[in-house]
Amino acid sequence: VNLTLAEFLALPEAAQVPLIGDQAVLYASQFTRSQIDHLCAVADAARRLHRSHDGAAWLGSRVPHRMALNFFAQPSTRTFMSFNTAQAVLGLERVSVRDIGRSSMSKGESLVDSIRTYVSYVDTIVMRHPDEHAAGTAFWTASRAHRRLRVGGREVPVPVISGGSGSKHHPTQALLDVYTLSRALGSLDGRTLLLVGDLARGRTVRSLAQLARVYDDVTLLFAAPERYQMLPDITGQLDRAGVRWEVVPTLEAGLPHADAVYMTRIQDEWDGAKAGGHEAAHPDFRFERRHLDALRDHAVLLHPLPKRDEIDPAIDDLDDPRVGYWSQERNGVWMRVALLAWLFGVDKAILHPLQT
Ligand code: NCD
Repeated sequence: VNLTLAEFLALPEAAQVPLIGDQAVLYASQFTRSQIDHLCAVADAARRLHRSHDGAAWLGSRVPHRMALNFFAQPSTRTFMSFNTAQAVLGLERVSVRDIGRSSMSKGESLVDSIRTYVSYVDTIVMRHPDEHAAGTAFWTASRAHRRLRVGGREVPVPVISGGSGSKHHPTQALLDVYTLSRALGSLDGRTLLLVGDLARGRTVRSLAQLARVYDDVTLLFAAPERYQMLPDITGQLDRAGVRWEVVPTLEAGLPHADAVYMTRIQDEWDGAKAGGHEAAHPDFRFERRHLDALRDHAVLLHPLPKRDEIDPAIDDLDDPRVGYWSQERNGVWMRVALLAWLFGVDKAILHPLQT
């Protein structure tokens, strides 16, 4: 990247995407339909292989000479755990930084210098950070560092993977979400997705909406309190891509049309410390037990998790096959295996293991 950091970060997302290529994962908008279909196929193949002892052993010897850093400067359960699991599946060594107070950033070291240092020691960085530009900063830093990895006959910078960038982007979650949707529904083409909750600050749901453009004839329905509605940066992208979207007044209003309901939590961590605990979900945007009656038979109920009160906890006791969020989190392991395999050039071997 032949730009200063300030110039790179000032570029609109669409202008950053060609520079990112296949050397980092920063935005859902960087992925094409054929890449996503390929990643889903690799995820399925890895999952199948891992069922047998021999298959798991073979998978675990794909990338044994590489070390991954999981740098999580914000809380995480699933993204952190599933990346760790995915790295273990492929045989990568793992190290984590989760507490900036115990790194030299607490002595005033810049993010750029810290990343420059990480790049000296590890072969990929998965990172979650409250600053929406931190992953872009890390990508820029890695691409300017001298260290290169030999992957598939090419010299590439240490790949950076966003595991959540501020309130804006969560590309690997969006990929595991479409993987889950295609497993549950067969295909996303022609489907209607009802997105509910905090659409303004929910990075998962924003990134998922960005992926709608790669499918044919998808309709997005947005159900959220006014102040948490989907922001114009995303609806503008949808308009430019010709994706149909509509605001619906309540969850219930969208429910009969939905092939999938995607619930999200009020992201009140962005409001600063508040007395009295967490903000309750508005009743019009809560998935109650009775809503299962209106949910179509083939439809699926998803949530990136963690959930609070936006889904009635009694729903977990019913064992309804349309409740998809627990398999969604497991799917995250396989999609992250696919992403790591792709970045390290072993994706095709996993798809066609007998030819290697
Ligand atoms: C989400 C996140 O961190 O953005 N969690 C996740 O990665 N599954 C969603 C959330 O915290 O609400």
